[in-house]
Amino acid sequence: MREPEELLRVENLKTHFFTDDGVVRAVDGISLRINRGKTLGLVGESGCGKSVTSLSIMRLIAPPGRIVEGEINLRGLDVAKLEEDEMRHIRGNRISMIFQQPTSCLNPVFRVGNQIAESLMIHRGYNKQRARQRAIELLTMVGIPSAKTRNWATTPCRARRINPNPIRGNRG
Ligand SMILES: Nc1ncnc2c1ncn2[C@@H]1O[C@H](COP(=O)(O)OP(=O)(O)OP(=O)(O)O)[C@@H](O)[C@H]1O
Ligand SMILES: [Mg+2]
Repeated sequence: MREPEELLRVENLKTHFFTDDGVVRAVDGISLRINRGKTLGLVGESGCGKSVTSLSIMRLIAPPGRIVEGEINLRGLDVAKLEEDEMRHIRGNRISMIFQQPTSCLNPVFRVGNQIAESLMIHRGYNKQRARQRAIELLTMVGIPSAKTRNWATTPCRARRINPNPIRGNRG
């Protein structure tokens, strides 16, 4: 039997926040593995470090927080050691995060189709038309009714637009 392909391996990750009131050891030695086709759920009480773990893997921890130890291996890439511009290429392309706060998830002012298309243009190099087509396909796949016939590309004041709000789940 073939070995399962390992997509993500985190070893002994430690992310601490160096605050004026002392060091918060938000994540203090977590290790995990995710193989292709598998799903891993992190469960724990509020404040136990689920979000900080995810943000660390995405390399989105801002000061006073810092990854102080550990290895984050994404399909052979040592994420902890990548330069920021390399990381920017990987983020949203090979690894993404659906944020818990709805306001930072999708922008309600812009159409969801355009927001998906924009990401495909940036990360996949699609032209506008191809990106729009793919956005429609993806929305159809997740069951958004008549994604094709809705008006995605015109200005936000048009009546038939779809706001992102109805397709957000509760990800608290
Ligand atoms: N910027 C920060 N400065 C100081 N401490 C922080 C900072 N961000 C997070 N923490 C601390 O890190 C710890 C882990 O927080 P985290 O947000 O990862 O929890 P969580 O498991 O995602 O909780 P929830 O279920 O409520 O989302 C908490 O004690 C939190 O107070
Ligand atoms: Mg959280």
